[in-house]
Amino acid sequence: MMPAPRFRGALIWFVAFALVANALPAAERVPGKAAIASAHPLATAAGHEILEKGGNAFDAAVAVTAALAVVYPTGSGLAGGGFYLLHRASDGRDVMIDAREKAPAAASRDMFLGPDGNPVPGLSLNSALAAGIAGEPAGMEHLVKEYGRLPLALLLAPAIRLAHEGFPVTPHLRAVIEYKREVFAKQKEVARIWLRHGAAPPLGTVIRQPQLARTLETLAKHGLRDFYEGAVSRQLVAGVRQLGGIWTAEDLAAYRIVERAPIVGEYRGARIISAPPPSSGGIVLVEALNVLSGYDLAQLDSATRKHLIIASMKRGHRDRAVWLGDPDFVEMPVAELIHPYYAAGLRASIRLDRAMPSAELPGILPASQGPQTTHFSVLDAEGNRVAGTITLNFLFGSGLVVPGTGLFLNNEMDDFSKKAGVPNGFQLVGNAANEIAPGKRMLSSMTPTFIESPRGLMIAGSPGGSYITGMVLLATLDFLDGRSAAEIVAAPRIHHQYLPDVLQYERDALTPTEIESLTKRGYTLRESQRGWGNLQVVTWDYASGRVDAASDPRGEGEGQVY
Ligand code: GLY
Repeated sequence: MMPAPRFRGALIWFVAFALVANALPAAERVPGKAAIASAHPLATAAGHEILEKGGNAFDAAVAVTAALAVVYPTGSGLAGGGFYLLHRASDGRDVMIDAREKAPAAASRDMFLGPDGNPVPGLSLNSALAAGIAGEPAGMEHLVKEYGRLPLALLLAPAIRLAHEGFPVTPHLRAVIEYKREVFAKQKEVARIWLRHGAAPPLGTVIRQPQLARTLETLAKHGLRDFYEGAVSRQLVAGVRQLGGIWTAEDLAAYRIVERAPIVGEYRGARIISAPPPSSGGIVLVEALNVLSGYDLAQLDSATRKHLIIASMKRGHRDRAVWLGDPDFVEMPVAELIHPYYAAGLRASIRLDRAMPSAELPGILPASQGPQTTHFSVLDAEGNRVAGTITLNFLFGSGLVVPGTGLFLNNEMDDFSKKAGVPNGFQLVGNAANEIAPGKRMLSSMTPTFIESPRGLMIAGSPGGSYITGMVLLATLDFLDGRSAAEIVAAPRIHHQYLPDVLQYERDALTPTEIESLTKRGYTLRESQRGWGNLQVVTWDYASGRVDAASDPRGEGEGQVY
């Protein structure tokens, strides 16, 4: 039966509107809701406070970054760096702010090698030499000046409050402090704040950071440039040199962010927007998805599906090791690596019944990467987005605090290849493209990513060093399979990074049948007892208008929709 004319008219309008709305590029859609997922509930709340005050996603990203530096310094901090992948709704602009650390001018290729020509154990991790010139404050400054709408002082206010008033020690934080106890005990100021009677503080102990609060207040008053050319920079240079480092006033004054065009790919109707070099993330992600686009994964049995995902990860990571570094220093065949024809060639080397040992892939000389970092995802009600992955590299960076500032120094220099042929702490290998040079950015695996599909949008990223890109790949496949944000962050994970030639898996990631089938194909399997990653995901379903935010249950973060 036809509806009555009045309703028929409304129906025609409704259908026409729905068709037009569905055909609109994502940039022109408006979610009407905002969402934030970050590694700490207080950082998520700091972002929310800024949205409430009329800030956009870019303002919220600054507030979340500053709050994370206070309540989650295991993952990131002002004396670190990171990448902010942005989408501006008003003009559809996608861009990545590269706020990656740079090697100081006095750095040199062999600076971490001892008299025997081998890396000195720990030097690129636990000393002030391990610190690259920090980029995070410059990234925040650029967000505020070019993309945000609220004043810096307002954006830093939640972090300043948290530094003054303190926040409680959680199980994760307690475990990490325990891990760093000896390093902290050697520094009086650090021990006073982070230890109690020489040990990790009991759960619930309130951690207050008055020096960090003062540093943040100085930056709020004088601007973030003060970190590079002002009172804070003078403190940093003097403090780093006192700790044995090589930072100079000129290094800090010369630091600039770079706006870089993201890596863009296509996978089964979805648009992939991700991090370009000096991150390897976007290239490895798009290359792996290009390889997978030759198969109808949904039609394959689960073991074969996982075999192909692993085969694509392995090939992507192999190319990372061979080709990638800082684009301002090395020529890279980026267009070729993310070209579908290249992926077709890689597919030709994949057999469905057998794993190809990594040693049979064209070889490389052996580079570097760390397990701790943090990610947050923000969507505002207008459709602006930020995928921010920021880092000090390993847990609490070097563990050294620059005297008087409350700032933990990064140990990002370990992300360079210290010596060809020597894998780093994360067993990643690389070559000359990622060797140390003054002013060069070290290669990263951080993979802040947007996925735009007919189903909707996903904003995603994670810490986890060499594991990051594989996690974003699995999250992408899960999103395109229709999984919810909560399901995506919780799903058990598999990983292969080319070398070592081992398929790692979390408990429950493989069934006994899959284990048998993959073993028969020739894989060496290793179950991880602890799992990895801390994925932060925001999704927006176009058809229902539903927005979701989810934080990885492996961590202690929080996703909220407002
Ligand atoms: N430090 C972790 C990364 O950049 O990949």
